[in-house]
Amino acid sequence: MKVMIAYGTRYGATQGVAERMSGWLHENNIDSDIINVKKDSWPELSNYNGLIFGSGIKIGQWTKEMKKFVKKKKEEINALKGPKVFFVCSGYAAIPERYQEIKEDYCKMALDNLGVSVDTYEAFGGVMNVSPNSPIRWLDKKILKIAGKETPDFDPNGVNDSRDWDKIEKFTQKFIRIIKKA
Ligand SMILES: Cc1cc2nc3c(=O)[nH]c(=O)nc-3n(C[C@H](O)[C@H](O)[C@H](O)COP(=O)(O)O)c2cc1C
Repeated sequence: MKVMIAYGTRYGATQGVAERMSGWLHENNIDSDIINVKKDSWPELSNYNGLIFGSGIKIGQWTKEMKKFVKKKKEEINALKGPKVFFVCSGYAAIPERYQEIKEDYCKMALDNLGVSVDTYEAFGGVMNVSPNSPIRWLDKKILKIAGKETPDFDPNGVNDSRDWDKIEKFTQKFIRIIKKA
């Protein structure tokens, strides 16, 4: 049994999620290939029993490579027999009042617009790293500091990692239950 975990990231938050997911799959005797859609080649999906794909969000958008990946793989994704699930890492998903709207906009609407259907989707919080060592460029950092004012417990000089690992693990375990039944 083998799963493709394809991700698009700008600053690494979504990569971290993909790697942890792969670990939980491994603990359940499920192999996975982690594909960075910007850097790696895109294998045929018919070689896999399931697909997990996800993207970080910047100014409301997935990474351009994840959009390209889905456009190119649309038929393969829709034809895949096993489970397919999608997620985003989004700063605003960590704001309780905005979570539901963010989840629908960044996952459901975006997938519908591209003509792809999935079994389930989820919006996780992201990393809003505005610390002095942040890899985020100066101007983007400024944007983040403004956006951070809406986010609970935002530290204007900190890493602000709002990925909820329990929630991410539950999402992965649900995928594992589905793939084991399939
Ligand atoms: C310049 C910039 C713009 C962002 N815009 C949004 C946004 O519109 N909505 C949102 O939910 N999060 C936004 N974020 C937060 C990111 O979604 C968050 O940092 C996420 O963890 C990025 O994932 P990645 O590191 O995998 O690219 C933004 C972050 C940056 C740096």
